[in-house]
Amino acid sequence: MAVVKANAYGHGLVPAAWTFLAAGASQLGVAFVEEGLELRRAGITAPILVLGGLLGQQIGAFLDYDLTIGVASPEKLRHVNEAAEQTGRRAKVHLKIDTGMGRLGKRWDRCAEFFAQGAASEHCDVLGVYSHFANADAQDPTFAREQLDHFLAATSFYEREGLPTPVRHMANSGACLGHPEAWLDMVRPGILLYGVYPGPEARRTIDVQPALTLKTRVVFYKVVDEGLTVGYDLTWRAPRTTRVVTLPIGYGDGYARALSNRGEVLIEGVRRPIVGRMSMDQCNVDLGDGTAYNGDEVVLIGAQGDGRITVEEVAAWVDTIPYEILTMLGSRIPRYYLDDSAAASAAASVG
Ligand SMILES: Cc1ncc(COP(=O)(O)O)c(C=O)c1O
Repeated sequence: MAVVKANAYGHGLVPAAWTFLAAGASQLGVAFVEEGLELRRAGITAPILVLGGLLGQQIGAFLDYDLTIGVASPEKLRHVNEAAEQTGRRAKVHLKIDTGMGRLGKRWDRCAEFFAQGAASEHCDVLGVYSHFANADAQDPTFAREQLDHFLAATSFYEREGLPTPVRHMANSGACLGHPEAWLDMVRPGILLYGVYPGPEARRTIDVQPALTLKTRVVFYKVVDEGLTVGYDLTWRAPRTTRVVTLPIGYGDGYARALSNRGEVLIEGVRRPIVGRMSMDQCNVDLGDGTAYNGDEVVLIGAQGDGRITVEEVAAWVDTIPYEILTMLGSRIPRYYLDDSAAASAAASVG
C-alpha cells in the first residue's frame, strides 16, 4: 500500500497515486475521505484505505465511492454495519488496533470481541487488520518489537477461532527499513516512497533518492546601501553595501517563516542566506559575490551545480521534521513531473 495522504506528502495526490500504481502498488492509503474521493474522481479504481478517524455522517460517501473504511472501535463498526445495511451495499473494512501508538484503535489486549464482532457483521467485509508504529525508525528497536508482538498476539485470534486472517499490515517507512519481521502481509510506507528517510536514526537498508526539487526564480535585484534594512520588522540591516535578490515564494507557499535570517538557497550552485523576515509571498537573499539576473533559477530544496540543500536541512533550520516541510508545500506551487509517462499511461488506460 502506497500512502499518498496530505497531497502525497506535498508531491501531488493524483499524479503520485498513478505513479505508485504503475510501479506496482496494489492499494493506496489516505487520511481523509475527501482524499479518497479525489482519487476516485480521477478515475482510480484500486482499493483505497482511509486511515484516519471516521465521522458517522461520512459513511455514506465511503460506500458510494467504494472506499475502504479504517474502523477503530466497536461502536464505529456497528454504525458502519448499520449504514451498509440501510444502503444495501457491503462495506469494506480494515480494523485498526492500537499496539502502543496511543492514537486511533482498539487496544491490542482488548480486541478479541472487536474481531469477533467484525467477523459477525453481516454487511461488512473485514479485509484487513492494521496497526501503526510509534518509533519504528528509532535506533533502539525495543518498543517497535513490543508493538509487533502485541499485534501478532492480538491477530492470532483468527487462527485460534478457525477464521481466515484478514490482510495484516503495520510497516511504515521506518519498519520497511529496519523491521523486516513486521512486513507481514503488506507494507504501508509513506515518506520513503518519496525518497526521504523517516528520521536521522532510520537504518538506510534501502537506497532512495529524493523525488522532489523545490525551485523558484529571481524576480528582483537591488543593491542595498550599508545600514538599510530589508523586510518586515527590520530584522536585517545591511552590514555593508549588499547585493540582494528577491524570490517569489514565502510562508504562504509553505516555505516556513522560521527560515527568516536562517535558511539558505542555491544560486549558481552556491549557498546564499535568506536575509530579513520571510514574507507571505516573497523572501530576500544576500547574493554575496555571486551574480543573478531576473528569471534565474534558484533551488530551495535539491541540487544545483555542485550544491545541494536537503529537506532534512531545511527541517533542521525550522526545528521540525522533513514530513512537515514536504506537506506544508502549498497549492500555489506548480508541480512539474519529469517523467510522468507511467502516470499518464495509467491514466489513459482508464480513459
Ligand atoms: C496510519 C499510517 N500508516 C502509514 C503511514 C506512513 O508513514 P511513513 O510516512 O512514516 O512511512 C502513516 C503516516 O504518518 C500513517 O499515519
